[in-house]
Amino acid sequence: MADITRRWTMGRRAIGAVVAGALALMVPAMLAEREATPQAAGNLQGKTVLITGSTDGLGRAVALRTAGLGAHVIVHGRNRERGDALVAEIAKGGRGSARFYAADFSSLDEVRQFAAAVERDYPRIDVLVNNAGVWNRGERQVSRDGYELHFAVNYLAHFLLTRELLPRVVEAAPSRIINVASVGQSPIDFDDVMLERPGRAAEGYPQSKLAQILFTMDLADELHDRGVIVVALHPATLMNTTMVQQSGLAAQTSVDEGAEALMHLITAPDVVSGQYYSGLRPARANAQAYDADARAKLRALSRTLAGM
Ligand SMILES: NC(=O)c1ccc[n+]([C@@H]2O[C@H](COP(=O)([O-])OP(=O)(O)OC[C@H]3O[C@@H](n4cnc5c(N)ncnc54)[C@H](OP(=O)(O)O)[C@@H]3O)[C@@H](O)[C@H]2O)c1
Repeated sequence: MADITRRWTMGRRAIGAVVAGALALMVPAMLAEREATPQAAGNLQGKTVLITGSTDGLGRAVALRTAGLGAHVIVHGRNRERGDALVAEIAKGGRGSARFYAADFSSLDEVRQFAAAVERDYPRIDVLVNNAGVWNRGERQVSRDGYELHFAVNYLAHFLLTRELLPRVVEAAPSRIINVASVGQSPIDFDDVMLERPGRAAEGYPQSKLAQILFTMDLADELHDRGVIVVALHPATLMNTTMVQQSGLAAQTSVDEGAEALMHLITAPDVVSGQYYSGLRPARANAQAYDADARAKLRALSRTLAGM
């Protein structure tokens, strides 16, 4: 009996050694194969990534990460000093490159000028990240064009920018458009989109974020056979960014957590177009996002408001 056990144990050891040997040969080959696939290795060499609102917070963190994978990053925001500092930091990092463009998204004219400059300077955009955002918990405010401020900056400016740059994104297919939305969503009341009725100011931010999700699903439908993936993301809840600091609420998560989720949508091979993601996972958005009539209504309204 002892002999049988010893022989069985030795047999197991021998099989173990053979398996370990085979794995030692196979693993490097498997890794080399993975690295040959740019998406799998997260290699963004030769890709152009435009990130709105990348002078601070989540956008800044993801600009650094994408440049670290070799991308050329179009950095955007209002603050030239922070924009130039980020471009210099990326250049110093030795991988990737960047260029800063200033544009205030509370003005549709500035959005148009920004889009025209990008169109002039870049033949292709591989990833467009619509991330710039404001969250103001006080009184209702309006944009330079007279529209409710959250709707104007968080949604309408990005609607216009995306429409203007769409030929460049389609040219780069397979390419991606990622709308940084939020778990905070409230349905659009088409009779009071500008929140002029008293007591509705607090709906500005969540309404603008749901508008981004409706736009995501609408555009994904439109581009289903063009090789462009369009998704929306809630990055993480109350990250430690300027936006949250200014809100007076305590941060609950780090910007790294949100950056991880956004990087997943930029690089993962299995991202599903038209999907709303919460962190790393597909999630269910507010019911209005699945209402095709509401999406068509928002599209028509947005074209009118943006003067298209
Ligand atoms: N923080 C969170 O917990 C959280 C949660 C869910 C979703 N989000 C979303 O994530 C995105 C990034 O937020 P964050 O927390 O990183 O905010 P943040 O640190 O305050 O950064 C906001 C960025 O947007 C730019 N921006 C703001 N107003 C602008 C305007 N009028 N024109 C052009 N650019 C403007 C800012 O650039 P300048 O200052 O240079 O203009 C900055 O780069 C937003 O869309 C936000 O709604 C955040």
